[in-house]
Amino acid sequence: MEDQAASLRKLVENKKDPAATDVGKDASAGAEPAAPTAPRPLPKEGARIIAVTSGKGGVGKSNLTVNLALAFIAEGKNVLVIDADLGMANVDVLLGTSSKYNLLHLLDDDVVLDDVILKGPYGIRYISGGSGMEQAGEFTPAERSLLEEKLTGCGEMADIILIDTGAGIGRNVLDFILAADEVLLVTTPEPTALTDAYAVMKAYSMYAAKPNMRLVVNRVYDEAESLEVAEKLKKTAERFLHMDIGCLGAIYEDRNMIQAVRQQKPILEAYPSSLAAKCIKAIARAILYGEKVPVKKGWKSFLQYFLDFTR
Ligand SMILES: Nc1ncnc2c1ncn2[C@@H]1O[C@H](COP(=O)(O)OP(=O)(O)O)[C@@H](O)[C@H]1O
Ligand SMILES: [Mg+2]
Repeated sequence: MEDQAASLRKLVENKKDPAATDVGKDASAGAEPAAPTAPRPLPKEGARIIAVTSGKGGVGKSNLTVNLALAFIAEGKNVLVIDADLGMANVDVLLGTSSKYNLLHLLDDDVVLDDVILKGPYGIRYISGGSGMEQAGEFTPAERSLLEEKLTGCGEMADIILIDTGAGIGRNVLDFILAADEVLLVTTPEPTALTDAYAVMKAYSMYAAKPNMRLVVNRVYDEAESLEVAEKLKKTAERFLHMDIGCLGAIYEDRNMIQAVRQQKPILEAYPSSLAAKCIKAIARAILYGEKVPVKKGWKSFLQYFLDFTR
């Protein structure tokens, strides 16, 4: 997969519109993002398929995916997580597990779907993305159809399939997000994350037959910041891509998230009443039921933050 800077460069170089200036730095010319041929939907027999993606890496996709899975499970849903950030083993690390089989093992003739579906802690079932693999580049057409064939059964074994993709607009990421029913685009308020988020929005809008992408703004300090970021991206998408992109919600910057990652536990388990956990639960409800309730920081958190900042 091409690196982040290269993907973005390619995208902005080719751009005829000046949209990136709205969300960050612009460049002006280049090649198309990795052009998928005919996006073929992932198998889905009734399961709702949600891809979690981002332009820039490290913005919180894997944590959001794993914790959303927990929130959905708590709501009685049957969930399967697919770690499609191949070679990075994010989901394994966040759950404190390691796995013998991963998604790429499906390319071996004698490995079947049941072998790669792992029963993780907290009732999470997942397919690992593996770690340290050189092979995790782009799939050949033959590998694609083999994967498609073997993954067909997933559609029948879950109400919701959550796919944690890699960052950027490489072919494997684009294929996953184009094949999903809906896409959660995670960004932080940082200008570099916003510019890269725009690159993903643009690539997605170019190829998606029925665009269905919503934003999650992670690591915000207050509600005003999240509204500002969401508004900026929404307006840019409307103006230059003619795509409607709503905001599902925001997640506060919360040191409990960092602590939970260190403990290799999802924050919903480790610190269920933390601010970030509340935000993720609210996002899960927004996804499931369409409710949208902004999470207030509350007095205790106000004091905690206030004292942190003035220390
Ligand atoms: N809301 C948050 N508050 C504080 N730190 C966060 C938050 N979300 C993510 N992080 C930090 O960002 C890191 C990267 O998150 P991760 O989910 O692995 O990103 P990605 O999957 O997009 O690469 C986490 O390990 C954590 O330290
Ligand atoms: Mg990740």
